[in-house]
Amino acid sequence: MKAYELVKGCISLEGLRLVEKPQPEPGTGQLLVRMRAASLNYRDQLVVSGGYFGGTVARDTIPLSDGAGEVVDVGAAVTRFKSGDRVAGTFFLGWIDGPPGGPLQARGAPADGVLTEYALLDEADTVAIPNNLSFEEAATLPCAGVTAWHAVVITCGVKPGDTVLVLGTGGVSIFALQFAKAAGARVIMTSSSDEKLARGRALGAAEGINYRRTPDWEKEVLEVTGNRGVDVVVEVGGPGTLARSMQAVAFAGKITLIGVLAGLKGDTNPHPIMRKGASMHGIFVGNRAMFESMNVAIEVNGIKPVVDKVFAFEQAAEAYRYQQSGAHFGKVVIRI
Ligand SMILES: NC(=O)c1ccc[n+]([C@@H]2O[C@H](COP(=O)([O-])OP(=O)(O)OC[C@H]3O[C@@H](n4cnc5c(N)ncnc54)[C@H](OP(=O)(O)O)[C@@H]3O)[C@@H](O)[C@H]2O)c1
Repeated sequence: MKAYELVKGCISLEGLRLVEKPQPEPGTGQLLVRMRAASLNYRDQLVVSGGYFGGTVARDTIPLSDGAGEVVDVGAAVTRFKSGDRVAGTFFLGWIDGPPGGPLQARGAPADGVLTEYALLDEADTVAIPNNLSFEEAATLPCAGVTAWHAVVITCGVKPGDTVLVLGTGGVSIFALQFAKAAGARVIMTSSSDEKLARGRALGAAEGINYRRTPDWEKEVLEVTGNRGVDVVVEVGGPGTLARSMQAVAFAGKITLIGVLAGLKGDTNPHPIMRKGASMHGIFVGNRAMFESMNVAIEVNGIKPVVDKVFAFEQAAEAYRYQQSGAHFGKVVIRI
C-alpha cells in the first residue's frame, strides 16, 4: 500500500515522503480501514516543522490525525463494526468518555495517522460517520469538528439568544460558527479578509470584524453587543489575542482556550476574568462520546462541514503549503 511518512526528526515538508508499506492485518479488536480522505489541521503544520509539544517526531510516522474511510476487514472480537461501514478514527486513542484519565496519545504524532491507503484502527477508537456526509466532509471531523463541539455545546451549552465570538475562519472557528448557529446563537466573527467575512455572513454570522483593519476588534465587539460583550469566546488565538478576548467577554461569560494562532508567548493579566465573574476553560479536542453526539447533531441538522479545497493524494505537500498560506476558509482535504 501507499502511505506518507514524516521521517524521524522531520523539521520541514522535505521530511514528508510517499512510501510503499505492507498492508497491515487487523488484530483482535481492530479494523482495517481503506482511508478515502484526510484533512489538515493547524497542528499538522506544527508536527511537520518539529514544533509540536514534544518536538520532532521520534520515529518515521504516518501524518494527519483526521480522516474517514470504509472498513474492509475486521479482527477477532470486533462487535461494533463490520466490513462496508463508513468510519472515522478518534483524535485521541483510548479516551472514550468522561474526563481524560491522564496524558493522551494522538493520531498523526506520536501515534501513526491516516494519510495512508489503509489504516488499522482499534474499534474502541472509531465512530460511524454521519450518513449525510461524503468521506471528504467526514474527514474534517475528528479534531476540528470535535474541538468546536466540545467548546460550544459540551462546555458552554450555547443556547438560543447567546452571542458567540469566533476568531478567524479556520477549521475550528467555522465549525464553531455552524454549531453555535444550529443552537440558536448569534455569531460574531473576525477575519483578516473581507471576502472571508462575506463567506462567514453567508453561513449565518451576524457580524464580521476585520482584525487587520480593526486591530482593537474587542471594542467593536462591545459596540455591536450594546457594550454587553459575548457569552462565549472560541479562543483560538492564544496569548496574542487573549487580552482582547477578556475585554470582549460578557459578565459571567466563558472563554474556551483552544489555540495559539496568534503566538505562544505572552503574560496576559487575568484581572478582567475576576472582575466579570467570567471563566476560562481549556479544551483538548474531545472524547469518543462527544464525537458521537456531534455526529447525531450533524445528521439531524443537515450540517455540512465547509471544505475549502480538495487535493489529490499525490499532492499532499501542496495541501500542506496551501493550509500554511492561510488562504483557506474552513478545511483543506486530501482525497486518498
Ligand atoms: N486545543 C485543541 O484541542 C485544539 C484543537 C484544534 C485546533 N487547536 C488550535 O486551534 C487553532 C486553530 O486551529 P485550526 O486547525 O482551526 O486552524 P486553521 O484552520 O489553520 O486556521 C487558520 C486561520 O486562523 C486565523 N488566524 C490566524 N491568525 C489569527 C489571529 N492572530 N487572530 C485571529 N485569527 C487568526 C486565520 O483566519 P483568517 O484568514 O480569517 O484571518 C487563518 O486562516 C490552532 O492554534 C490549533 O493549534 C487546538
